[in-house]
Amino acid sequence: MTRYKRQDPELTRRKFINVAMGTAAAVGGVSLISTLGTANPIFRLTRENMPPLKGDILVHAEGSKEGQPIAISELGTDLVRAWPMGKGENGEDIIRKGDPNNILVVYHFPQGQLVAPTNLEATIQGQTVAYSDICTHAGCTVGGTGEGMLCPCHSGQYAPKRGCVVVGGPPPRPLAQLPIAAQGNNIVVTGFFLTMPYPYIHEAEWDEFKKTVEEQLA
Ligand code: FES
Repeated sequence: MTRYKRQDPELTRRKFINVAMGTAAAVGGVSLISTLGTANPIFRLTRENMPPLKGDILVHAEGSKEGQPIAISELGTDLVRAWPMGKGENGEDIIRKGDPNNILVVYHFPQGQLVAPTNLEATIQGQTVAYSDICTHAGCTVGGTGEGMLCPCHSGQYAPKRGCVVVGGPPPRPLAQLPIAAQGNNIVVTGFFLTMPYPYIHEAEWDEFKKTVEEQLA
């Protein structure tokens, strides 16, 4: 079952942000993130819907290995979808799919094929790389291969070997790269997305959100 796909035009966080921004503007001086965190239970920040965090392990998001850690040795240039798996309040494993925007894509390229503007220091040996799999235009799940990714909604195109820069269509910016490292044969997250992922459109919102997550985890 492809739980990451959002075909239902339900309230998305982007829409909610827009509503919240209007609300915040109306009352003045109200923190947008505070609004997100408290005004609507749909967006209550939980371990399940937090973004990928340092220490999370990437697990398969589909197929017969769904929920199992991704082995670096099994990767190739074909797209592999992943969820971040972290720890719950009691130390139990939890897969952070409470926010569909947390779906990721992982590739492993032959040495030398992954080039700038990919942040190579945030990859595994310059070969294994992880990105958000959510289109920066309007939030659809992106498909394709390591040779090129295509968004089915409005034909946005990205180049996974080059930092998932936009090479066609309306997306305003690359898919966000997630910093990773090897932990044995598994993939561990080393920090937040390097650039703001969908649905953010203002750096200040994304920075505030990261701060809120860190405060809640402290
Ligand atoms: S949502 Fe991807 S191109 Fe519009």
